[in-house]
Amino acid sequence: MNNNTNVTWHEHSVSREMREKKNNHKGCIIWFTGLSGSGKSTIANTLDHKLHQLGVQTVVLDGDNVRHGLNAAPGMLEFSHGTKFSKRFGLGFSAIDREENIRRIGAVAEIFAQTGVIALTAFISPYHVDRDRVRNTVKEGDFIEIFVDTPIEVCEHRDPKGLYKKARAGEIKGFTGIDDPYEAPVTPELTLLAAEKTPDILADEVITFLKNKAIISL
Ligand SMILES: Nc1ncnc2c1ncn2[C@@H]1O[C@H](COP(=O)(O)OP(=O)(O)OP(=O)(O)O)[C@@H](O)[C@H]1O
Ligand SMILES: [Mg+2]
Repeated sequence: MNNNTNVTWHEHSVSREMREKKNNHKGCIIWFTGLSGSGKSTIANTLDHKLHQLGVQTVVLDGDNVRHGLNAAPGMLEFSHGTKFSKRFGLGFSAIDREENIRRIGAVAEIFAQTGVIALTAFISPYHVDRDRVRNTVKEGDFIEIFVDTPIEVCEHRDPKGLYKKARAGEIKGFTGIDDPYEAPVTPELTLLAAEKTPDILADEVITFLKNKAIISL
């Protein structure tokens, strides 16, 4: 990893195992993927609430929130070194920016997992290659890919942010499912039929999965 740099990994004096033992559950990344409007944020937040009630340490990383801070757009960033840096480090929606968006989120989520926390992420994350890269860079077993499987007709009908309407009208270019592909996971750890069941039932399906994998034992 440290090609051409003098950066070396520093072992933590409080190990992951010590943190997990104290938390009474393991850390992991629950990576929700699905179309806009499929229900990722709703399910992630319902699950977050249920896990919190069970005493599980959790964090939610959600699309719009992350784009306000960690991955803010160029126009939202100010650098003391001048505006060219906001262009360099701010993220938009081009292919390379989407790739970097997912890479940074994966890196942050893995820090949480290593701290014994269950990180819930709710990003469309439409490309296999980006999701697989996160899977392949984190510890084996840490990446739990959950496909929020909602047909596009249902998502478009829900359209709570009016984004499908804008995409159909040509006001948004490169919108996932309309004029940019959504690559559904081939072998996700779990698929949620989010057009047929309530968020409450779907969150319970995830909890059952976590218990079966001994990530939580409550
Ligand atoms: N299981 C469900 N059954 C019925 N409606 C749902 C369900 N899950 C979510 N919804 C509704 O669908 C809409 C979109 O859900 P949500 O915002 O969670 O989608 P999302 O996948 O996070 O979309 P985006 O990628 O745009 O953030 C909301 O109005 C929500 O109330
Ligand atoms: Mg959302």
